Amino acid sequence: MTDEERPGLEEELTALARISERAAESIIGEREVVVASHVDADGLTSAGIISAALDRAEIERETLFFRQLDLPALETIADLGPGLVIFTDLGSGMQTEILDMGLSAVVADHHRPQGSGVVHHINPHLVGLDGATQLSGSGSAFLLARALAKATGRSGENDDLAGLAIVGAVGDLQDMAAGRLIGLNRRILDIGVDAGVLSFGRDLKLFGKQTRPVFKMLEYSSDPFIPGLSGDEDACIFFLKEQGIRLRGERWRRWIDMNPEEKARIASALVRRGLRSGLSNRQLERLVGEVYTLLPEPEGTELRDASEYSTLLNATARYGFSGVGLAVCLGDRGPVLEEARRLLAEHRLNLVAGLKLVKEEGIIALDHIQYFDAGDRIRDTIVGIVAGMSFQTAERRKPILAFATSDEGRLKVSARGTQDLVRAGLNLSEAVSKAAEEVGGVGGGHNVAAGATIPLEAKEEFLKIMDRIVGGQLRT
Ligand code: C5P
Ligand code: ZN
Repeated sequence: MTDEERPGLEEELTALARISERAAESIIGEREVVVASHVDADGLTSAGIISAALDRAEIERETLFFRQLDLPALETIADLGPGLVIFTDLGSGMQTEILDMGLSAVVADHHRPQGSGVVHHINPHLVGLDGATQLSGSGSAFLLARALAKATGRSGENDDLAGLAIVGAVGDLQDMAAGRLIGLNRRILDIGVDAGVLSFGRDLKLFGKQTRPVFKMLEYSSDPFIPGLSGDEDACIFFLKEQGIRLRGERWRRWIDMNPEEKARIASALVRRGLRSGLSNRQLERLVGEVYTLLPEPEGTELRDASEYSTLLNATARYGFSGVGLAVCLGDRGPVLEEARRLLAEHRLNLVAGLKLVKEEGIIALDHIQYFDAGDRIRDTIVGIVAGMSFQTAERRKPILAFATSDEGRLKVSARGTQDLVRAGLNLSEAVSKAAEEVGGVGGGHNVAAGATIPLEAKEEFLKIMDRIVGGQLRT
């Protein structure tokens, strides 16, 4: 029986809920709680969930974001003299260091644990589940928030935060492997549906369903890239007219303005077009799939769709504006949302420019891996996203490594694989953390996506080690 078929993962859920309840009890009555989280969509939603839960429980908190949890980050936290630190979407790999720093800690994370010692540690790996597909950082944080509601005698009060948990899971691409959320993510989805804050269904997975005229949604489609349509406005308009779709009502019609019959007509025409132009089944599966809707958010906004919401959050956090993203998670709208939208527009331009750069410069293949070096031309904080998107056009039989120089004069590495490679034995988290350690850097992550920071001059050595380790993983 695969994990997906198992009924409900009851035992695992109960085990993590128990750990969460004990953790919650250690939080009640604390003052000066610091929430420390990761600067991406999953990290922001994790922090949003816990910060909202603490606010509701009237526990004072300060929320901080880190690109990675290294010793300087831990020192920054320790200097605040917190009574308790809640680490979300990070911390599992730094347990020894957290304890050595003398910090009293709760960790709600989903990265592969390294070391041990943190008592209140909520992590899917600890109950035998995969942290890349079955529970996100925001999912772990949600379990803690639920426990916190229970511990304060207000069971269910935080169930509405399931919406943010799903945004985080989608932001970490946890639905990619199966085309839908599975594992404990699915349980959280159910809780959100019951709470009336989420719905889900099969739909086109293209970006911009809520916000863009439908021909623009097609034109800007990049994942999957639809030959003959992506990047070509005229072709998209022609394609829709051919299907008898009216482009304008009172305003340009968006995907959400189409009636079900029109949607079905466009979707099947898209699949036919994709088939004709050589898209694989796997790519077609990415075109149509399960999508998640946040019901309390107004229709026609980025926040209504989990995928668009997560991109909006990435666009704040990855450019040093985590505070804006957190505020959105906590319910701020108006000027804060406008600011986030401005950042989103810039982010999308940067991703397009990054993909163009990779196309122009080319990807270099070694025996078992492939890589590109963006130097300082792609921000180190988004180079991983560009690496993942590069699989649309790159060889899929080797994982991709991407290098970018960081502001601190170190080399940022992002590694991305495919689910097929993971099934064949690839574990990027293990490979990257080992290779990084050998060259004097630090790294970690998940089997399908991992990252590291290494010394600038260590690139060639790092590549050699990675090629060897990945070769070994794929051979077994
Ligand atoms: O930074 P990037 O997007 O490439 O990170 C991929 C994954 O690897 C993320 O889950 C991130 O938390 C993890 N990572 C890590 N240690 C690092 C860098 C990244 O655990 N030094
Ligand atoms: Zn995460």
